Amino acid sequence: MVNDEKNEVFSIQTINLTKRYAKKRHKGILGFLRQDQNKNRQQEQNNVTVALNNLNLEIRPGELFGLLGPNGSGKTTTIKCLSTILIPDEGTAKVNGFDIQKETAMVRASLGMVVGGERTLYWKLTARDNLMYFASLYKMPKKQAKNRIEELLNMFQLSDRADERLEDYSTGMRQKIAIARALLHDPPILLLDEPTLGLDPGFARQLRKQIKALSEVDGKTVLLTTHYMEEADKLCDRVAFINNGSVVAVDTPNRLKAMVKEKEVLEVAVYSPPADIEGYVRSVLPDAEVVKLIPGNEDEGNQSRLKIIGGTAEDSVGTVVDALRKRNIRIGCLNVCVPTLEDVFIKLTGTKLSEGTSR
Ligand SMILES: Nc1ncnc2c1ncn2[C@@H]1O[C@H](COP(=O)(O)OP(=O)(O)OP(=O)(O)O)[C@@H](O)[C@H]1O
Ligand SMILES: [Mg+2]
Repeated sequence: MVNDEKNEVFSIQTINLTKRYAKKRHKGILGFLRQDQNKNRQQEQNNVTVALNNLNLEIRPGELFGLLGPNGSGKTTTIKCLSTILIPDEGTAKVNGFDIQKETAMVRASLGMVVGGERTLYWKLTARDNLMYFASLYKMPKKQAKNRIEELLNMFQLSDRADERLEDYSTGMRQKIAIARALLHDPPILLLDEPTLGLDPGFARQLRKQIKALSEVDGKTVLLTTHYMEEADKLCDRVAFINNGSVVAVDTPNRLKAMVKEKEVLEVAVYSPPADIEGYVRSVLPDAEVVKLIPGNEDEGNQSRLKIIGGTAEDSVGTVVDALRKRNIRIGCLNVCVPTLEDVFIKLTGTKLSEGTSR
C-alpha cells in the first residue's frame, strides 16, 4: 500500500507514468525497390509513439476501478507496466506498496493479471491441467494447488467441464479459465485487460457479475480496462477516462455523467452521412459544444449516430431536421438522451470511445 501526503492508502498508484514505443516501420516486401531508404533514417529513429504520457492514477484497496478509453489510448500499456512486463521510460508506479521497477518480485506476487486472455492458455490441455501447470510455475504445493483449483472451478461454474480440453471450450469459458489462472495465488490485486472483449452479451453479463463479486465479496482491488462505456458504468466504483496516454477525468460513473446536463444531448441516427456532416451541423447550431459522428454499419442494421452535445437539445431538433433535409440526408430516428459516459467522454475530448454501437 502507498501513503500519500494526506495519508491516503492506495493499492495502485501511478506517478507520471510515461511509456514511449519506437514506431516500427516496415519496408514491405517490395521495400528494396524504394529509393529513399536512407534519406530520413535519423528522422525515423526519432519517431516514437507516446503510449503513456504522465499518467497519474490512485486506486484504493477493494475498489473496482475502470480504465475507459478508445483504441490506442494506452490501456494495455498501463496494465503491462503495472505488471512489470514493460519498463516505463519515465515516472513510476506502486502496486500494493511495491515499486514496479525496484521490487518486481513483490509486485508480481501481489497481483494476478489477464492480458491477451484465452490466447495465453494451452488449448490442447484440459482446464484443470492448464491450472495445475500454472500452479506448478508458482511452485504451489500439489495438495494446495488441487484445492485452490477446485475452489476456482466452482467459483466460475466450470467444475463439470474441467476435464475437457480448452479447444472444446467457448471463448467466454476460456476467458474464465484465464481469470482463474490469475487468481491461483489469491493475490489482493487483479488487473484485467478488456475481460469481456469478443464475448456475447449474455456471457459478458455473467462474467461482469463474477468480477463484481471478486471485488465486493473477496475484497480484491480490480483494475479493468474497457472501451465499453456501459460496462464501465454498470460495473465500476470509479472510472478514469484515458485518452492519448493521459487521464482526462476520474470519478464515480454517476458524477462523471453529471458533467453533461440532462437534455443537453441530442442523438440523430442518419443514413449514409456525408464526410462533412459534423462541420455542417455544427455550422447551423452555434450553441452546440460538440457534434460528433459515431459511424455505424448500415448492412448490419446499425445506422451512424450523430451526437450533438451542448445547448438545449429540444430547441435544436427543428434546426437539425431542416439542415439535414436541405442536404437530403435521411434521418432514422431522433432522441433527446439521458447522458452516458460516452457523451461525457466526447464532451471532454471530442473523441468517441469506439466505432459503432457499444454493448
Ligand atoms: N509493441 C508496440 N510497439 C509500438 N507501438 C506500440 C506497441 N504497443 C502499443 N503501441 C502503441 O501504443 C499506443 C497505445 O497502445 P495500447 O495497446 O496501450 O492501447 P489500448 O488503449 O490498449 O488500445 P486497444 O483498445 O486497441 O486495446 C498505440 O498507439 C499503439 O499503437
Ligand atoms: Mg488494449
